[in-house]
Amino acid sequence: MLLRKVSVLACSHLRVISPKWSLLNQRPSHSLPPLTAGAYNVKRGDFAQITDNDLTHFQSIIGKDHVITDHNDLEMYNMDWMRSVRGQSKLLLKPKTTNEVSQIVKHCNERKLAVCPQGGNTGLVGGSVPVFDEIVLSTQRMNNIILIDPVSGVLVCQAGCILEAANNQLSKHSLMAPLDLGAKGSCHLGGNISTNAGGLRLLRYGSLRGSVLGVEAVLPSGEILDCLSELRKDNTGYDLKQLLIGSEGTLGIVTALAIQCVQKPLSTNLAFLGVESFSNVLSLLRGARRDLGEILSAVEFMDQDCMRLVTTHLDCSNPISSHPFYMLIETSGSNTGHDEEKLSAFLDKIMSSGLAVDGTLATDVGKLQSIWALRERIAEATLREGYNYKYDVSLPTEHMYTMVEESRKRLQDVCLSVFGYGHVGDGNLHLNMTSEKFDPKVLSMIEPFVYEWVSKYKGSVSAEHGMGFKKRQYMGFTKSKSAITLMHRIKELLDPNGIFNPYKTLPDP
Ligand code: FAD
Ligand code: MLT
Ligand code: ZN
Repeated sequence: MLLRKVSVLACSHLRVISPKWSLLNQRPSHSLPPLTAGAYNVKRGDFAQITDNDLTHFQSIIGKDHVITDHNDLEMYNMDWMRSVRGQSKLLLKPKTTNEVSQIVKHCNERKLAVCPQGGNTGLVGGSVPVFDEIVLSTQRMNNIILIDPVSGVLVCQAGCILEAANNQLSKHSLMAPLDLGAKGSCHLGGNISTNAGGLRLLRYGSLRGSVLGVEAVLPSGEILDCLSELRKDNTGYDLKQLLIGSEGTLGIVTALAIQCVQKPLSTNLAFLGVESFSNVLSLLRGARRDLGEILSAVEFMDQDCMRLVTTHLDCSNPISSHPFYMLIETSGSNTGHDEEKLSAFLDKIMSSGLAVDGTLATDVGKLQSIWALRERIAEATLREGYNYKYDVSLPTEHMYTMVEESRKRLQDVCLSVFGYGHVGDGNLHLNMTSEKFDPKVLSMIEPFVYEWVSKYKGSVSAEHGMGFKKRQYMGFTKSKSAITLMHRIKELLDPNGIFNPYKTLPDP
């Protein structure tokens, strides 16, 4: 086989990424992003202001220690991971139980106080932080695992369980969550559900929508919606949990969930390949699907600019020679011999045909992680270069990289870099641009250009990150008027006072 085994670690695997620990501490406070309300010229909704009586009431529900008003303590809850938006909340609440959430929300609804639900605050579209003085309701303390059923593979837990922490418990039963993403060290399962997070294994395990068995949520009235079924099959009436999945905290606060987990693979292999053209990337995707079949668990791509970013700004090195594109093709299965034989045959074929021109194979955990880090840490490396304009679009695969090339042509004089990576196996492109600092002129050259392009090819303006604050006004480019109108009606029905995550997800009517 032409592939050589990885001999050095390509990049130490740093678990992402709480704003607390990494980026925030590295920058002086004068580099705080501007306040969202001013930068985006937003008008405050007709909500009440917090009074001393409100504070006393919240303290009576969750105790003094969990009602936080200190400006410095609030800073990181007011700012997103990308440091691109900043709110002005003066109050952070950290309930521990569903009942506490319910009592808090009931009071907020009666008083018309706006609430911004927050999980791990790793969201990339500005949905998780307030715009004005919304109360931040964090699920940080709601981190109990309620049940792991080793036979059915069902996990039931509170919304604030960190994905990686849940996985650590699941692995004791040879199970794992059916999703994986670079933010696993910080994101909460409740946040994952509320954004319908995609990630690196969607190709294998499907959309989270199919794996969530049950959801418990507090509605804007304070009522507890109990749909916490653990059943794989349940065709009784409307599937209400689907309304909450992906609704980004605008319809309910997810307090607990049941999710179908999967068997932890006994054998995992990861090929890291150098590829000369995007059309070869697509041929390799097709070939991997055909030849690797049921053991294929991820197919990702990144271009050479991504490699430059991770090797320049992070402690990463490229384990193979330089190429215009790189691919990660992962297999997971239950029989090492069978999987290796299949993958070997595939790799021999693609190397001798020239579809891949260089490559390396990782099979043990440390090496797998170091190769995965090259891909998972692109978002982190990008922030080191400057201001990041981030787009997360679905497109027919044949148009995916043309979009990067056309954007590059248009923006090469005004951007430091224009690059693409993503979940090619799912038709999900992450198109990114950087400039030294935020420049409204650059933004006006990117938007609506990007969205018009996506609309022309019948894609989606948000493949997996959601609409949040930053993308919501662009929904109409790829969603029909009738669908958007019905979304507004559902919001109005469940949240007539509009207190849950205002200024987020839906475009202005
Ligand atoms: P937050 O960021 O806290 O919140 C996200 C949204 O959900 C907000 O609108 C918030 O109001 C709402 N919300 C949070 N918790 C609740 C709750 N309990 N009830 C109701 N609403 C709630 N995303 C992907 O889809 N795929 C990826 O591959 C991926 N990779 C990433 C890699 C990195 C390095 C980073 C920083 C982010 C990545 N993301 C990815 C984005 C992000 O991690 C996901 O959207 C994740 O699901 C957010 O979870 P969270 O707990 O951090 O939620
Ligand atoms: C990823 O796939 O790495 C994430 O969605 C984050 C990003 O888009 O940068
Ligand atoms: Zn992604």
